[in-house]
Amino acid sequence: MTSYALRAASPAKTRADAVVVGVVAGDKGPRLCDAAEEVSKAYGRRLRPFLSTMGVTGKAGEAVKAPTRDEVNAPLLVFVGLGEDPTDPIAVRRAAGVAARSVSNAASVALALPSETPELVAAVVEGHRLGGYTFTAYKSSKSETTEPADVVVLTSIARRAEAVAALGRAEVLADAVALCRDWVNTPPGDCTPPLLAELVTAAHKEATKGRGAPKVSLEVFDHEQLAEMGCGGILSVGNSSVAPSRLAKLTWAPKDAVAHLALVGKGVTFDSGGLTIKPSSSMMNMKGDMAGAASVVAATLAIARLGLPVKVTAFAPMAENMVSGTSTRPGDVITMHNGTTVEIANTDAEGRMLLGDALSMAVEEGPDVVLDIATLTGHMQLALGDKVGAVMGTDDQVPAVLAAGVAAGEQHWRMPIPEEMKERITSSKVADLLQHDWVRWGGGLYASAFLREFTGGLPWAHLDIAGKEMNLGGPYGHVPSGATGFGVTTLVEFARALAEAE
Ligand code: BES
Ligand code: ZN
Ligand code: MN
Repeated sequence: MTSYALRAASPAKTRADAVVVGVVAGDKGPRLCDAAEEVSKAYGRRLRPFLSTMGVTGKAGEAVKAPTRDEVNAPLLVFVGLGEDPTDPIAVRRAAGVAARSVSNAASVALALPSETPELVAAVVEGHRLGGYTFTAYKSSKSETTEPADVVVLTSIARRAEAVAALGRAEVLADAVALCRDWVNTPPGDCTPPLLAELVTAAHKEATKGRGAPKVSLEVFDHEQLAEMGCGGILSVGNSSVAPSRLAKLTWAPKDAVAHLALVGKGVTFDSGGLTIKPSSSMMNMKGDMAGAASVVAATLAIARLGLPVKVTAFAPMAENMVSGTSTRPGDVITMHNGTTVEIANTDAEGRMLLGDALSMAVEEGPDVVLDIATLTGHMQLALGDKVGAVMGTDDQVPAVLAAGVAAGEQHWRMPIPEEMKERITSSKVADLLQHDWVRWGGGLYASAFLREFTGGLPWAHLDIAGKEMNLGGPYGHVPSGATGFGVTTLVEFARALAEAE
């Protein structure tokens, strides 16, 4: 595990295996960022022609490795592009992520990236930790890359308490995102509901052990308990699998809480579609269908570790959606936790069945706000792509989620719940609600209208992150290939803003 430290030292004199310096692009050619001023001085007039020979432009995403003589106290110098605005934390986080991947075998690294404010210090640490994230649990050969033991962030504000606090916060956030990524990356056979519940239990134990650790309570409900609690929705999905369903409930209730936030996350550990089976090509990445559950657990532990004065009650319903003789059939009617009956039309619309139960349980806690997060519909993936999440909900909460996304550096976009949806979701001839109506368009909006029925009219927002949980392309910025951890930082920021608004 890499350890991060702040130091107010010169990047030209700091001894390390590699020194990373940020390069700003501009009309007059590239220049080194302020934190790397001493490196500029060490090169003097040789810098411009050197950068030009090495092909350094400073554009975002760029990383150029250069050999050194005596300009810096390290055998390797890496120039990473910042783009044109070195004061933008998002650009700095991206550059730090690129830096982490471009230095693959150094024990010690010094980072001379923009870090003049606590916010920028946090961006450097978050970007470096998250951009350097790897998932090697299943690789026989782990020697391709090694993470550095020591990273020093060179910053003029190293001794300021705000900078040290920003470093600590960034590490907590990066831990949370990495935890979510680990679970989403884990193969589905090793992440069935009972196994995921064990992972949650272990993470909870880790986050709450030792002196000064926050007090978070965890309850895990098993299949029989869910049956007693009338969670027909969760069980209607999980009954198809030999792996029984679970529900994890986490509570962070600090004495100074100024508001109560309920979080609900979809935890389908594998989504085959059930009897309404998916085509093969759509099934490949369905191990990531528990990303919502992973993100609410990770976010809740982070909120507790940060000591945010907000009570959080988090629900992570977990089930595996499989094909078997005990699978739910289209046409079946399911009674949900709150007594609502639902006619099943498509067993691949399983997420709303888990969420319906968990949302109605969340509402019983009497929270001020309910957020749910789920890889819910391919429709929202088709509409918004793999980097922008969809948000629907009540007028008072949707803007708050969008703002939290901006603060967290994650993109979300509001989608409506049109009035006609109410009529469509209540059009079952035999039950209160129709789970799906086979109209292809607007499926993400239909799903939101369905979920709204379980929110008891409370302030609520639904984050549909389908397609955002996994990056199927190459790495970029602080995002590696594979699980992204999308949503975790938005949830934490939402809680922080809620605490500050009260
Ligand atoms: N887990 C899927 C949604 C999904 C799609 C997640 C792509 C990640 C990437 C969800 O359970 C699902 O199958 N949704 C259906 C809904 C439909 C039956 C109304 C879909 O997207 O087709
Ligand atoms: Zn699903
Ligand atoms: Mn599905």
